[in-house]
Amino acid sequence: MKVTEEEFEELVTEAISTLPEKFRERMENIVVVVESLPSQELLREMKIKSPYGLLGLYRGVPYTRRSIWYRNVMPDKIIIFKKPIEVRCKNKEEIKESVRKVVIHEIGHYFGLGEADLRKIERERNKVMKPREKEKIYLTQSYFKYPLPEGMLKELSEELKYINRYPSGGEYAKLRQVLAEYVGVKMEDILPANGSDEVIEIVTRAYKGEVLIPIPTFSQYEASADREGLPKVLANCLQNGEYTINYSVQQLKSASLIWICNPNNPTGTRIPRENIIDILQKAKGMVVVDECNYEYLGETVLDLIDKYENLIISRSFSKNFGLAGLRLGFAISNPQNIKKLAAFGQHFRVNRMAEKAAAKVLRYLDYYQEVWGKMKKVRDKFVRQINELGFFAYDSQANFVLVEFKNKKETERVWKYLKENGIYTLAGWENEFSSLGDQFIRFTIGKEWEMDKVIEVLSDYIKKG
Ligand SMILES: Cc1ncc(COP(=O)(O)O)c(C=O)c1O
Repeated sequence: MKVTEEEFEELVTEAISTLPEKFRERMENIVVVVESLPSQELLREMKIKSPYGLLGLYRGVPYTRRSIWYRNVMPDKIIIFKKPIEVRCKNKEEIKESVRKVVIHEIGHYFGLGEADLRKIERERNKVMKPREKEKIYLTQSYFKYPLPEGMLKELSEELKYINRYPSGGEYAKLRQVLAEYVGVKMEDILPANGSDEVIEIVTRAYKGEVLIPIPTFSQYEASADREGLPKVLANCLQNGEYTINYSVQQLKSASLIWICNPNNPTGTRIPRENIIDILQKAKGMVVVDECNYEYLGETVLDLIDKYENLIISRSFSKNFGLAGLRLGFAISNPQNIKKLAAFGQHFRVNRMAEKAAAKVLRYLDYYQEVWGKMKKVRDKFVRQINELGFFAYDSQANFVLVEFKNKKETERVWKYLKENGIYTLAGWENEFSSLGDQFIRFTIGKEWEMDKVIEVLSDYIKKG
């Protein structure tokens, strides 16, 4: 299997960026380059007969043998040879895996390990690693699918010994300060909560009355309204493959609570700022903009909280920072609204680990930003490929993609076929969303190899007719 030089270099960059944190930290003094084949001179030096017998090379002074002066000398070098890797691989996925193994192997030399030690470690690792073919792919929940920074996990695990103590509770001053600094508002504008689900619950309790919901959308706006026994107006916003919030003036005058999910779940649609401002100006009740996928969209109406008294924004650390299991969300609004909301929640709304985790994940913002960028690339490629296969994928600004099929029958066949091939997705009939039709499947965006596998299985499905 051949790939272009650019593609190959991208695979090398990706292999490095997905290395464990402690490897990447040490790599700042190593230059990684790609060459087509090893030279004759090098082969003689290495006593290797075939130019295809060498996949990678480490040149430098192993970390364990260097003096403190070493940093001022030339950087170490890792060379990855393209052609020998290509001839061994059937597809791009295999090239990617092979590049990763070679990079890890060469870094092993940098850590002072000889060839024999490395081979032994690799044999043992191969024994415990399951072949990818058999790995199940879960694309149902839209959580953070990449490894969490190891340094962050270590720091957080050190907090475990203090879980006998209560969280700060009440004011949550430090946590609010951290969150306020991250988003760029005053701490009085922030209310931390037990996930943004709790923001939804608290807001619903605080602004009781008719609830206006733009369907299809995230299910919890409706669920919270139902728990409070509130009347709901479900406004259909999806028509002819487009999701547009089109509330009528009448609807905006009679609702106490108006929901906007930006980007919308499950369509992934960006809601234009002018649209939100128009709603804020016409609405009589409170408008809540759910920005739990803000980090993927990159647009916010945060700057409007002082201008519009009827604006609350909801954010989360679940999908962007990978804290879904710890539960950390927050509301942003003017201090009067925040005070009112606080009265509807418990004193210890946020648990101690989540409270500590916020500052810790933010120290690794660079890593997260890199992952967000990578996820967006994988997502956009997936949308393109789905459309090339002849299905209809909605353009998405979130970490999931909604695909519309011809009818329920076709959707069921595709969903079942994916499942038989170990790929789990969320179909419209599973009631995870408010009013999503049976002709839809939502795919969470996983790693590139997972999405490539989805495309491979769907191509197979089409071929089999
Ligand atoms: C649009 C939307 N809002 C809120 C949430 C809840 O997120 P959290 O984990 O912060 O409660 C989700 C989770 O799926 C979501 O998709």
